[in-house]
Amino acid sequence: MTPLPPKPVARAARVSLWRHLKLFRADILSAQPARLYRAWMAEFRTPFFRSVLVNDPALLRLVLRKRPGDFPKSGRIGAGLRPLLGASVFLTNGATWKRQRRIIDPAFEGGRLKDSFAAMRAAADAAVARLAPLAGGAPVEIEPQASHAAADVIFRTLFSIPIEHDTAAATYRAFHAHQRSQPLLNLAAFVRGPRWMPRLHSRETRATARRIRGLIADLVARRAAAIADGSAPPDLATRIMTTPDPESGACFSPEEMVDQVAIFFLAGHETSASSLGWTLYLLATHPEIQARAAAEALAFSGDFSGLSGLKLIRDCTREALRLYPPVPMMVRETVAPERFRDRGLPRRTQVVLSPWHLHRHERFWDAPDAFDPDRWSREEGRASARRAYMPFSAGPRVCPGAGFAMAEAAVLLAALLARYRFAPVEGDVPVPVAHLTVRSKNGIRLRVTPREQLKSCKISGANSCKNSIRAGV
Ligand code: HEM
Repeated sequence: MTPLPPKPVARAARVSLWRHLKLFRADILSAQPARLYRAWMAEFRTPFFRSVLVNDPALLRLVLRKRPGDFPKSGRIGAGLRPLLGASVFLTNGATWKRQRRIIDPAFEGGRLKDSFAAMRAAADAAVARLAPLAGGAPVEIEPQASHAAADVIFRTLFSIPIEHDTAAATYRAFHAHQRSQPLLNLAAFVRGPRWMPRLHSRETRATARRIRGLIADLVARRAAAIADGSAPPDLATRIMTTPDPESGACFSPEEMVDQVAIFFLAGHETSASSLGWTLYLLATHPEIQARAAAEALAFSGDFSGLSGLKLIRDCTREALRLYPPVPMMVRETVAPERFRDRGLPRRTQVVLSPWHLHRHERFWDAPDAFDPDRWSREEGRASARRAYMPFSAGPRVCPGAGFAMAEAAVLLAALLARYRFAPVEGDVPVPVAHLTVRSKNGIRLRVTPREQLKSCKISGANSCKNSIRAGV
């Protein structure tokens, strides 16, 4: 029997506040007790803050869909991110946030996905080529490969430049330096100290943020000039920069565009990289499913219309996003007293929404910890998802890049699986931890082997190739 995919060991049921904070600082996932995988709601009280973690679908609907305005993001969440992201759509609330979404959303609408497809394909081909010299040799560190590929997708779709472009490469490097100086998942979002506690950023954090924003400002200025002289390519940046707010008629100022590009890069590349890394690991440890997915990849026509045929590959991504949601928890704040499940909550209570617990919740999912992409073809699996699945959040604040990310995952996986077979390294089991996104504590290493059958496939026709892959060769 295939062992269950790795899951962090939960902490003991009762621990002191200081022990909890210590565990929390090391890793949010293993700092939680196992009862959260069964609870409808759980409350944490400390001298400084009060928070509730909510798994009840009715309460999730209330917070995210029915009255999102009464549960904004707290200013503290943004504290660590503000030097880099300024007033980006990820951090704003109220009227400013609404205006920003009115400008951004049309660029990501389902109908526009087709416009980004060629750039995604080019990034997928480049990812396949980057693996070529490593395949067949020592185990490959998968997370840097996934991160590189996802960053490449963002630069190609936003600015029509590959990751090798000077500014793109410098931005990518600077983001990594920034993350080392400032862990971007800000603990202050969850562990609120007293109000007077200052949130200072180190000089290094401010310097790396300034450097990244300078590089992005340069890209934005060059694009503004190209739009003005009519030579701009029809990519995401051009679409967003030329879309006026339908209410005020104003476009983003250059400064605001820098804020948005910073969040597209951050939200768009870290998350997709996390999802790709875990999906490859899950496929490596489930060779029969990988063989079926590879057969689907080989049958892929390679054009946009063929994407809908990648059903199993999409279900593998959905299942990986269920087991390892890249954004494991989100935090909102009450602006007035509330009653949740007969419990009174004062103003400024932290409301924690946890895809991590919801997606593995024992009341909602059959075999919650198992990797079973076929559950997505069964009614019972789809019913579970309607109640307890939100890797992209939900409601008006849902991730605008959700459709984009699903298409990107399918394109990258199809290209990689058609060319390589992925296998686990004996005894090398990744440990999931929550950094900015859910990553492996010590990396994910896999054996990558070229599918030699591809050569004979080209010579002898697609069917013999598909058959050998179905047989798991
Ligand atoms: C697997 C990939 C992705 C996952 C799992 C993901 C997940 C999420 C989640 C859970 C949120 C809500 C966070 C919160 O409310 O605190 C979010 C917001 C956001 N995401 Fe994504 N995302 C992904 C890819 C992308 C991509 C590719 C882009 C853009 C290129 C993007 C852009 C954004 C933006 C701008 C927001 C802020 C929206 C708002 O607050 O109104 N994401 N994402």
